Order: sequence, then C-alpha cells, then structure tokens
Amino acid sequence: MQERLKLQHFLTIKKLENDQVEGLIDRAEYFKAGGAVPEFSQPIYAVNMFFENSTRTHCSFEMAERKLGLQTIPFDPTTSSVNKGETLYDTLLSLNSIGVSLAVVRHSKNEYYNELVNLDNTQKLDMGIINAGDGSGQHPSQCLLDMMTIHEQFGHFKGLKVAIVGDLTNSRVARSDMRLLKQLGAKIYFSGPEYWYSSEFEEFGNYVKVDELIDQMDVIILLRVQHERHQQEVAFSPTAYHSEYGLTVERYARMKENAIIMHPGPINRGVELASELVEAPKSRFSTQMKNGVFMRMAMIEAVINGRGLGGKK
Ligand code: CP
Repeated sequence: MQERLKLQHFLTIKKLENDQVEGLIDRAEYFKAGGAVPEFSQPIYAVNMFFENSTRTHCSFEMAERKLGLQTIPFDPTTSSVNKGETLYDTLLSLNSIGVSLAVVRHSKNEYYNELVNLDNTQKLDMGIINAGDGSGQHPSQCLLDMMTIHEQFGHFKGLKVAIVGDLTNSRVARSDMRLLKQLGAKIYFSGPEYWYSSEFEEFGNYVKVDELIDQMDVIILLRVQHERHQQEVAFSPTAYHSEYGLTVERYARMKENAIIMHPGPINRGVELASELVEAPKSRFSTQMKNGVFMRMAMIEAVINGRGLGGKK
C-alpha cells in the first residue's frame, strides 16, 4: 500500500507528484464512501481565515474539519485586530500561542503564505498553513476536488481533452487546473474572450474558439467572470458574453455524450452557463462541491500527519 502523504503545509499543487495526487483522490474517495476517519488522542484546533469572500471553500473546509473531529476556532477578519494594523504573521502567532495548530487561509495577495512558512531562526510560528486561495495564484483544494470529479467520471486523465473557458487572466482555479491536468496527461485547450488568453498559458495549451471545440471536449471547465479583479472594466454585456462565449443550451446539445461541465462557482447564471444547465445531467457543479469536503479532509489529514498532530492513535 502506498504511504499516505505527509506535508508541513498545503500551499500549492506545484510540487505534487502524480502518485501523490492519486493517493489524495483515493483517500477522498474512501472518505466519500463512508470510510472511518482517523482517531486522535489529543484535540487539534484549527482556524479558517478568509480575507476574501467565500461560500464553498470556507464552509467546505469547516465541514471537513468537523468530519475529522477537529475543533474550529471562529475568526472574523472584519472584527479582528487585523483592522488595527496587526500583520498576518502576528495574527497567526497570536492564534498559535493560544493553541491553534492549523490555519486555512484565503488572501488577496499572491503567495501571502511565504512570510508564514519561510521563517528565520528568531521566529517561532509553528502552524500548518493550508492555502484556500491566494490572489490570482493558486487554489489547491479547488484543483484537487476538480481532479477527483474528473477521475470519478473517466477513471483516468491521460488523453482527456479539457477546455478551460473564460476569465483566464484572473483565475487561480485555471492556473492550478491547467498545470495539474497537463502533468496528469490531459490535453488542454483555452477559450472565451481572446484578450484573457496570454503567452503565460502557451506552455499548457492553445486558444480555440468555443464553437470549434464544443463537440470535441471531454471536460469543459467554465470560469466565473471576475469583475471585482478587473482593473479597467470595458463595457460588459452579460447577454453578449453568453451568446459569444457561454455554454448555451444550443452548445450543450453539441457536447459529446459522456462529456461533463464543471464550474468552481459562484456561477453568473446566464453568463458563463445558461441558468437551466446548472443542474443538467452533464453538469458536475453540485458533485464538485460535494467532493470538495472529502478532498479537503484528505488535504487536512496530510498536514496533520506531516506535523504529527493529534497525538498517538
Ligand atoms: N470555488 C470557490 O472558491 O468558491 P468560493 O469563493 O465560494 O469559496
């Protein structure tokens, strides 16, 4: 049996080997099938710190922590001493001092976690950091739950044709998914407004117009148009976007029989995806959210094991 993954922190998918990804998927599928959770002889205290808005990731991590038997300490960034100017490091040092040993953090700054994990010998912070999304950088838990959802449908990645469609420039989900999917052997295509495709993505795949790829793809990953991250918003018409780049009912009818649609959420209904397709047979939107809890359990467990938390079983 493959040894279970052990990590000090879970920050990015960039250093994961394929067999480690497969191990995480296996473990998440085990939890999903009702497999027993590990028993800990000492309590493990965790905190979820979301400095950017979130529904899925925040609640899903909290559900995963509860299912694993962790004690979650409430933290509200809007009423915390961050608003008095306390740094992220000092905030975590405070929580660590009162007994918290795991922090799930979402932050608008790319690689915010460097200051929390690259410590000098005067710094005493001793916490596992799990990245719940950093700016336009990485979203490891969304990426891994996406891999689990694709694996559940096809049983493999090699040779699958995957289109990533929409606001590529601003998407940490796209950046994480394209890298891991390519590493796992899938073939990546990009679509949506061409101005959101840049040379940064060329090593992963080419740009193709949505109408030219729709009947060829096994997986279509739609991205939310992230208006809040656009520096200068050109006049945006939801109807025009939907008709030119969105997954319309007409395009849905042209998809391969076994193909699936994914979307990390939140969905702009009628923009990236026709509202009536959100729960259509090919949509895996709800499955992704369901799988997220079990994948996050596997990720948290990897950090618990890496740091030797919870005492002896
Ligand atoms: N997919 C995702 O990150 O959703 P939330 O922003 O609601 O967490």
